[in-house]
Amino acid sequence: MKRILVTGGAGFIGSHLCDRLIKDGHDVICLDNYFTGSKRNIEHLLPHPYFELVRHDVIQPYFAEVDQIYNLACPASPVHYQYNPIKTTKTSVMGAINMLGLAKRIKARILQASTSEVYGDPEIHPQTEEYWGNVNPIGIRSCYDEGKRCAETLFMDYHKQNQVDIKIMRIFNTYGPNMHPNDGRVVSNFIMQALKNQDITIYGDGSQSRSFQYVDDLVEGAIRMMNSPKDFIGPVNIGNPNEFTILELAQEVIRLTQSKSKIIFEKLPMDDPMQRQPDISLAKERLNNWTPNIQLEEGLIKTITYFDNFIRDIK
Ligand SMILES: NC(=O)c1ccc[n+]([C@@H]2O[C@H](COP(=O)([O-])OP(=O)(O)OC[C@H]3O[C@@H](n4cnc5c(N)ncnc54)[C@H](O)[C@@H]3O)[C@@H](O)[C@H]2O)c1
Repeated sequence: MKRILVTGGAGFIGSHLCDRLIKDGHDVICLDNYFTGSKRNIEHLLPHPYFELVRHDVIQPYFAEVDQIYNLACPASPVHYQYNPIKTTKTSVMGAINMLGLAKRIKARILQASTSEVYGDPEIHPQTEEYWGNVNPIGIRSCYDEGKRCAETLFMDYHKQNQVDIKIMRIFNTYGPNMHPNDGRVVSNFIMQALKNQDITIYGDGSQSRSFQYVDDLVEGAIRMMNSPKDFIGPVNIGNPNEFTILELAQEVIRLTQSKSKIIFEKLPMDDPMQRQPDISLAKERLNNWTPNIQLEEGLIKTITYFDNFIRDIK
């Protein structure tokens, strides 16, 4: 049994990670300020004797004796991270400094939930970890992209300068139950619109492609990365390389929900990447042949069931 701190633990990915860590028999502290997360996501864990919930903002220092830290705290969807862009950068940068300081002091291993957004609007496909990215430093997405890039820099420098035991994981588009219903991300948007038989909005002509990873595959990758040999620090891409156009995704959601929704097209927002696809060779090689197992249809069905129940609950 390990003592594990999960920052952002009440969020979409964090709540699945807490579930899995508790299931694996660990002692888990879930830390969150509930900006985008919700107690609803982890309320079933509250009675568990080895689960502890802490309301805290990572831009303030925090102290606990733990063996491992998963640093997930940061709003991840554009509507949420653009709501207060200065706070988003503070969360990524000051959150990283506070958690790295803690890891250094208590000699814990720390994993950073970085993002494919560090590649910006990439000029190479698929993206390997060596690619440095093509990021606009002053655009509307910069608070998130540059905040996450700076967090990676901090992780590397704490490792080089203070020998902190770090891991960096670059997460690609992930979806699943517990996503925020109004976060404007494409999967949750399409499913909510389809379930309500509303028009499905595609930004641009729908030819831009994305690869979608189901959350259980990500959690498995994160745990393997955290427990990988000390000399493998990453960054490592964790994502599903199967590509779909946004139009194909919309059609699939309509089919699976048997919705009467129509597809409508709107202007593409600034800096929206045309294509994003992970090269996962490194993860396969270094994380015991890790590879995503859940394909789009199966993952979408589970996510649709979640949102369907969610809509019923709030009625
Ligand atoms: N979902 C994806 O597709 C994706 C892709 C790449 C990277 N990531 C990264 O994974 C992590 C989790 O993302 P998610 O999709 O679960 O998003 P999310 O918004 O559901 O979860 C983020 C959690 O962090 C909490 N939080 C935000 N600011 C905080 C602060 N200052 N102090 C404490 N808690 C704070 C939120 O309340 C929320 O519970 C993020 O770091 C995100 O950047 C996610």
